[in-house]
Amino acid sequence: MMTAKELIQKLDLQPHPEGGFFKETYRSPGEISANGLPSEFKGSRSYSTCIYFLLTSATFSAFHKINQDEIWHFYLGSPIKLHTISQDGIHLEHRIGNAIKNDQSPQLVVPKGHWFAASVMDDNGYALVGCTVAPGFDFGDFVLGSREELIAKFPEHKKIIEQYTRD
Ligand code: GUN
Repeated sequence: MMTAKELIQKLDLQPHPEGGFFKETYRSPGEISANGLPSEFKGSRSYSTCIYFLLTSATFSAFHKINQDEIWHFYLGSPIKLHTISQDGIHLEHRIGNAIKNDQSPQLVVPKGHWFAASVMDDNGYALVGCTVAPGFDFGDFVLGSREELIAKFPEHKKIIEQYTRD
């Protein structure tokens, strides 16, 4: 199996503000104008986008949210633990991986507006996944959670929020 460093070089991945490394692999040429989208979208968006996303056990994907559902696809490496907190405070823990018999899912849909964060389950491992969204990704729809604000909003989830935020 390739090392994380080799994959980052081979796939030309860049650091992501939420943690991990990514590269956009698809952006549909078609666009939807803002007036065809819900009001939370502040401009036109591509129909859909897709990225490679690589997470290592040295880091984590910090709590963030976007305006669209995000579909995760497992490709290789360690399974991933992914936490979601819905706007009304329901916390769920999911496992993304290919050991289906152990209740891991090769695909996972994170609903729009849910806060989500992820980490690799194996020690000294990495996971390579894909993340697809429609409408297409735009950093204008991306909110990185502040530890203080998330704890104020969801005090019952303080522990998990502290574990998956950086400030
Ligand atoms: N493009 C840049 N960052 C992201 C991300 O976090 N998710 C998706 N789906 N696309 C991106």
